[in-house]
Amino acid sequence: MHFSSLRQKSEFREIIPYSKGEILTNSTHPSSYYVTWFHVVFSAASTISIKIDGVKDFTYEEMKLATNNFNVSTQVGQGGYGKVYKGILADGTVVAIKRAQEGSLQGEKEFLTEIELLSRVHHRNLVSLIGYCDDEGEQMLVYEFMSNHTLRDQLSGKSKEPLSFAMRLKIALGSAKGILYLHTEADPPIFHRDIKASNILLDSKLTAKVADFGLSRLAPVPDMEGAVAAHVSTVVRGTPGYLDPEYFLTHKLTDKSDVYSIGVVFLELLTGMQPISHGKNIVREVTVAYSSGMIFSVIDERMGSYPSDCVEKFLSLALKCCQEETDARPSMAEVVRQLESIWLMMPQSDTKTTESSDKDPEIAVTSQPSSSIVKNPYVSSDVSGSELVSGVVPTITPR
Ligand SMILES: Nc1ncnc2c1ncn2[C@@H]1O[C@H](COP(=O)(O)OP(=O)(O)OP(=O)(O)O)[C@@H](O)[C@H]1O
Ligand SMILES: [Mg+2]
Repeated sequence: MHFSSLRQKSEFREIIPYSKGEILTNSTHPSSYYVTWFHVVFSAASTISIKIDGVKDFTYEEMKLATNNFNVSTQVGQGGYGKVYKGILADGTVVAIKRAQEGSLQGEKEFLTEIELLSRVHHRNLVSLIGYCDDEGEQMLVYEFMSNHTLRDQLSGKSKEPLSFAMRLKIALGSAKGILYLHTEADPPIFHRDIKASNILLDSKLTAKVADFGLSRLAPVPDMEGAVAAHVSTVVRGTPGYLDPEYFLTHKLTDKSDVYSIGVVFLELLTGMQPISHGKNIVREVTVAYSSGMIFSVIDERMGSYPSDCVEKFLSLALKCCQEETDARPSMAEVVRQLESIWLMMPQSDTKTTESSDKDPEIAVTSQPSSSIVKNPYVSSDVSGSELVSGVVPTITPR
């Protein structure tokens, strides 16, 4: 049975229990409610079990009202999945509504995968899923709205003020923390598979939030011996320019594929270039400049003055992430540690990125070194996603 056909029939809310589980609903809300968990049958041949917790199920009518009947003036973008609208819910919450287009390549299965994944991952550097709509033959995803658009938009010069180096470093650190959380704290771990500048969104305070888990696959779970078999897939997913060359060749997905992609994003942050432009590849271009000692020739002039030692270290880290060989790339934990150590090297005057940057958890580091300059970038104790967001670790006041 088809999911949407199930949903269209009133029996959907009454199927209790289903053979492999049950549907529990809170029917106190007349038009929408929270689904505790349920099982969905796709076809006679396949059964998909989805657990959804705390994610709101919107009606088509509610989506229509939020967007003034999907008025073109509320449209903020378009991606492979479909159009994206800015909506205002009945309670005043501003949201981004992703409306699946007919014949969208990302089908029903990805729709449900995204809901399921997002409903159980929560981190300040990941875009929150507020709810979804599967009604009247339509599918939509409802996210928190990011008023400063995507990192790609910011780097393309669409915003009035170009990002300073400190802001770029902060965005890099936030994005890395979000991905680290997916790799180390999500259970089972999640590899994003489509990290790119247009999937890093910025909120009103320019806090970076990683978006779009529709392409994610759950990472393999270790077997009895503790060995983790690399995920082998027949289909390579991702975006040209960001795609890990080893994953492309072998179809083996590892955490280092996301490391490669975020490395490309770091290069974009430093140079303002696109991953591929006029037939040139950003990794190759920056590698050539680096090898010939010309790194400052590729740095984005729009960021104004910057501490050259920090820029050099950030660029060297970005290139390490983009090594062809998987093993030569750092892990996300190492990436976060190194970015933190670069942050600590910044002159204090440069690190006032927001009004309350001293209290900004974005730049709270994982351990407090005795000196404000970290000599060894690996001094931090073991980094994990939860430590990074707990707020327990004190913020370092930069020198
Ligand atoms: N949560 C959000 N808040 C504000 N704007 C958003 C949000 N999500 C998406 N957008 C806007 O919608 C646009 C399209 O997003 P979408 O994820 O559909 O496509 P994409 O990331 O550009 O490409 P792809 O289809 O490969 O994912 C984005 O570029 C952004 O401008
Ligand atoms: Mg996207």
